[in-house]
Amino acid sequence: MPEKEPIGVIGVGWVGLCTAACFADLGHHVYARDILPEKVESLSRGEVPMHEPGLSELVRGNAERLRFTTDIGEVLDNASLLFCCVDTPPTYSGDADLSRVEAVIAELGGSVGHAIVMKSTVPVGTGRSIRRRFGGVGYVSNPEFLKEGSAIKDFMHPDRVVIGADSESEPFADRVQALYEPLGTSVVRTDVASAEMVKLASNAFLATKISFINEIANVSEELGADVSEVARGMGLDDRIGPKFLQAGIGFGGSCFPKDVSALKQLAGNTGYHFQLLTAVVEVNELQKRRTIGKLQKHLGSLAGKEIALLGLAFKPNTDDVREATSLVLSARLQGEGANVRVFDPVAADGAREMLGGATITDSALEALEGADGAVLVTEWPEFAELDWVDVHQRMRVPVIVDGRNFLDREALVAAGFRYEGIGR
Ligand code: UGA
Repeated sequence: MPEKEPIGVIGVGWVGLCTAACFADLGHHVYARDILPEKVESLSRGEVPMHEPGLSELVRGNAERLRFTTDIGEVLDNASLLFCCVDTPPTYSGDADLSRVEAVIAELGGSVGHAIVMKSTVPVGTGRSIRRRFGGVGYVSNPEFLKEGSAIKDFMHPDRVVIGADSESEPFADRVQALYEPLGTSVVRTDVASAEMVKLASNAFLATKISFINEIANVSEELGADVSEVARGMGLDDRIGPKFLQAGIGFGGSCFPKDVSALKQLAGNTGYHFQLLTAVVEVNELQKRRTIGKLQKHLGSLAGKEIALLGLAFKPNTDDVREATSLVLSARLQGEGANVRVFDPVAADGAREMLGGATITDSALEALEGADGAVLVTEWPEFAELDWVDVHQRMRVPVIVDGRNFLDREALVAAGFRYEGIGR
């Protein structure tokens, strides 16, 4: 069998490591470079610094094909397709901070015969601007659509792969396409700007879907409809689809908030006011305020009240707390004078410094013991499995706001809880 094309990965964060591990599992030799020596050393020992199901197994199982290094020269010597996976966090203005991407490009700029394959989420127009400045190097846009918590499955069974290249880089784009052939998925070939836009537009659309169903939920509360039933009825329409219609206390994470504001800002830079996305962000904020309102409805002033937050991670199966709703709720509840206790099965360590005066507990029961109210923030399965009859005995006031419509409402009401869901 012919040797598979070796690949380079620049930036071994969550996207970079998932990409490296999955390509290694598909039989490629992968040269993965990060600037942090400690990270490179621990990855070389098979230690994976993040919670992502199946990732550790892939890293350890493919150790002979995965080389971690700090040396960019070693990557350039061994691979010509260089997947750029550094992060692009938001700046205060909402633009994406491209300084890490710029640093990578500056290092690779003159490498004729190599192509940058951009996986990092970048503003539309980035590829064209890089090509203008560094003519010699190839450029392919290949946005990632991985979800935290199911990244390995998403990589191996993607809905589609998007590959954008301008005419001079088409031969590199063909080679990138060949890497994905074993996955047997639809490949969408476009120009670079369109591929960049597919990524931002997809995340913005999904965020819009969530804010839309959250508004339907808020109106349903007033009109006596149940948003879960409404979503089920809507979702069976093929044109709508059932996914991302789960009402809740709003979306978080390192992607949706960032990409929505990046696209809004990008439009604004051209003089176009993206009205819909402005509303998407506002509704997401509103969901948090409404959660606090629901507690106040039952408890009056929150000053001096003991409030338990169940869950810190922005969603289950991850320890990521970036832009997590839990952090905003914790800060606002403390602002109202409440004493906040929080529990999360995996995310507590990462959140510790961002929680201000909140107390982190070692178990859900410890957070709930003697509490005046509780908010379920993250739908970790273990929260559904709590003995809620016992919890009812332990809480001082049995008020629960189920921010993800996750708990068994009938059972909780039967146990004597004052239950508030979202849109029910
Ligand atoms: C998201 C996209 O789903 C991925 O396709 C994309 O690759 C990724 O961003 C990225 O740009 O890197 P992720 O942020 O991991 O993935 O998380 P999601 O599973 O999409 O959830 C995002 C947020 O929306 C979570 O806070 C979740 O609780 C919330 N959500 C999701 C809802 O409130 N309702 C839903 O119906 C679905």
